[in-house]
Amino acid sequence: MKRFITIVLVALVAAACVVAIYRFNFRKSIPADAPVEEQVAAILAQNDCFVCHDHDAERPFYINYPLIGTRLQGHMHRAARFTDLKSVVQKLDAIDEASLAKLEQSMLSGSMPLLEYRLVHWGTGFNKAEKSVLASWIRDVRAQRFATGLAAEQFANEPVQPLKGNIPTDPEKVALGYKMFYDTRISADGTVSCADCHILESGGADVADFRTSEGIDGQFGGVNAPTVYNAVYNCQQFWNGRAATLAEQAAGPPVNPVEMGDQTWDDIVARLRRDKALVRQFEALYPEGLTQATVTDAIAEFEKTLTTPDSPFDRYLAGDASALTAEQIEGYRLFKEHDCATCHAGQTLGGQSFEYLGIAEDYFAARTPEIAMNDDDKGLFGFTGNERDLHKFKVSNLRNVTLTPPYLHDGSAATLDEAVKAMMRFQTGADYTQQEVDRIVDFLGSLNGQNPYLQ
Ligand code: HEC
Ligand code: HEC
Ligand code: HEC
Repeated sequence: MKRFITIVLVALVAAACVVAIYRFNFRKSIPADAPVEEQVAAILAQNDCFVCHDHDAERPFYINYPLIGTRLQGHMHRAARFTDLKSVVQKLDAIDEASLAKLEQSMLSGSMPLLEYRLVHWGTGFNKAEKSVLASWIRDVRAQRFATGLAAEQFANEPVQPLKGNIPTDPEKVALGYKMFYDTRISADGTVSCADCHILESGGADVADFRTSEGIDGQFGGVNAPTVYNAVYNCQQFWNGRAATLAEQAAGPPVNPVEMGDQTWDDIVARLRRDKALVRQFEALYPEGLTQATVTDAIAEFEKTLTTPDSPFDRYLAGDASALTAEQIEGYRLFKEHDCATCHAGQTLGGQSFEYLGIAEDYFAARTPEIAMNDDDKGLFGFTGNERDLHKFKVSNLRNVTLTPPYLHDGSAATLDEAVKAMMRFQTGADYTQQEVDRIVDFLGSLNGQNPYLQ
C-alpha cells in the first residue's frame, strides 16, 4: 500500500513536471510572421501577466478567502497600479517610454510573474524564445522612437538616454520670450514674474526654503514649483498634466489668483500694449501683433532654449568612461536594479508618464499631518475627472535634481536622501540599505548639465 501511494505521488509530480516543462518550452506557437506587436501581446497573455496587471481583471472565486485570496488581492491591486499592462497592450505601437522600460525590466530581472504565483502556476515566466522576441522588439522601438542618437554603441539601448541640447528656435522670438519671462507687468500688481518662481541661475525652480511657491500678495500655492529646465521634453505640463504644451502652460500662471493675480488675459494684453516699443517688437515678429497667443508663444520659444546637455552622465553615456566616479556608476546600476528607471526613463529621467504616488504603501495616509490633504493631491484626477487617475502625478524629471530642493509635488522631502527613501518606501517597496541610497544620490549628482543661464 505504502509503495502504491509513493508510486502514485511520484507519477503525479512527474506528470506536473512534464506539463510545466512542456508549457514553458512549447507554448501555443505564435506565428513568427504575425506583426511583432501581436506576438508581444500573446507572450504577455501566455505568461498570465494580465491576471494581475489589469485594473479590470476578473477576480477569481477565492479572492475573498483569507490568506491566499487576500494576498492575491493585494498583489493585483499593487500590480495594476505599477503598470496596467492590459491597457498598455491595447496600443503597443504607441507605447510610452516608461511602459517600454517596465516591460524591459520585468524581462531582465526575471522577477515576473511573482515567485509565489509561479509556485502555483508552474511553467509561467518568459522562456528563451519569448525573451528574444521581447528584447528585439524593445530595442527596435527604443531605437526608432526614443533614442537621442548621442549614446555610444554599448549604451544605445539604455532606458536613460543622453540629453539632446539644441532645439531649433527663432532667436528673435527667444529674445522676446526671455523679456516676457522676466516681465513683472504680467502680474496683476506688477510685482511677480515667471522668473521669481523659476530661478534660472539656480535650477529653474523656486528657492529651497519654499515647500510651495509664494505668489502675489504673499499667498502660497498648493504645490512645489517644478523646474522649467528641460520642461520642453515633458509629455504634458504641470504635475497633473493640465497643459498640453509650453504655450498653453504659460497662459496659466498669469490668471492664477495665487500666482500672478486674479485677472484676465485681456487685462494683461491691455496693460502690455501701453508699451508702444513692446507692441512694435511683437508686430515685427507676429502678423497678429501682441496677443495672449503671441506672448505665450514667445515664452514657449524661449523655454525651448532651457535644455541642459553635457552633464557628466551624458558624457559617460557618450563613451567617456572617466566622466563618472565609481560610486556614480554603481548608483546608476542600482537606479536600474531598484526599478527607478522604469518610471524615470528617457533623456530627462521622467516627464514621460503619469504614475501613482503610493504603490507599495499609501503615501497620503503616511504623510505628516502638518500637510493637509488638498485639491492638488488629487493629481491627474483633478484634470481628467477619471477616478482611476486619483493620486497619479507626472513623474519628476531628474535632470539637475540636486539644484531643486525641496522635492515631491508637495515639497515634503527636504533632501534628495529623503526623496529617494520615499520612492523606495512608497513606489517600489523594496528593501534597501543606506549605502544603496547614498550611491543613488551620488548618481543623481551626475545629472547636472550646461546652460548659459545656469550658474
Ligand atoms: C500574481 C500577480 C502578478 C502576476 C501574474 C504578474 N505580476 Fe508583475 N507585479 C506584481 C506585483 C504585486 C508587482 C509590484 C512589485 C512587487 O511587489 O514586487 C509587480 C511588478 C511588476 C513590474 C514592475 C517592475 C518589476 O519588474 O519588478 C513589471 C514591469 C511587471 N510586474 C510586469 C509583469 C509581467 C510582464 C508579467 C507577466 C510575465 C507579470 N508582471 C505578472 C504582480 C504580478
Ligand atoms: C508664484 C510662483 C510661480 C509663477 C509666478 C510662475 N510659476 Fe510656473 N509653476 C509654479 C508652480 C507651483 C508650478 C506647478 C503647478 C502645478 O503643477 O499645478 C509651475 C509649473 C510650471 C511649468 C510646468 C513644469 C512641469 O514640469 O510641469 C512651467 C513650464 C512653468 N511653470 C513656467 C512658468 C512660466 C512661463 C511662468 C510665467 C508666465 C510661470 N511659470 C510663473 C510656480 C510659478
Ligand atoms: C512607479 C513609478 C516610480 C518609480 C518606480 C520611482 N519613481 Fe521617483 N517619482 C515618481 C513620481 C510620480 C514622482 C513625483 C511624486 C509627486 O508627485 O510627489 C517621483 C519623484 C521622484 C523624485 C523627486 C524629484 C523632484 O524634483 O521632486 C526623486 C528624487 C525620485 N522620484 C527618485 C526616484 C528613485 C531614486 C527611484 C527608485 C528607488 C524612483 N524615483 C522610483 C515615480 C516613480
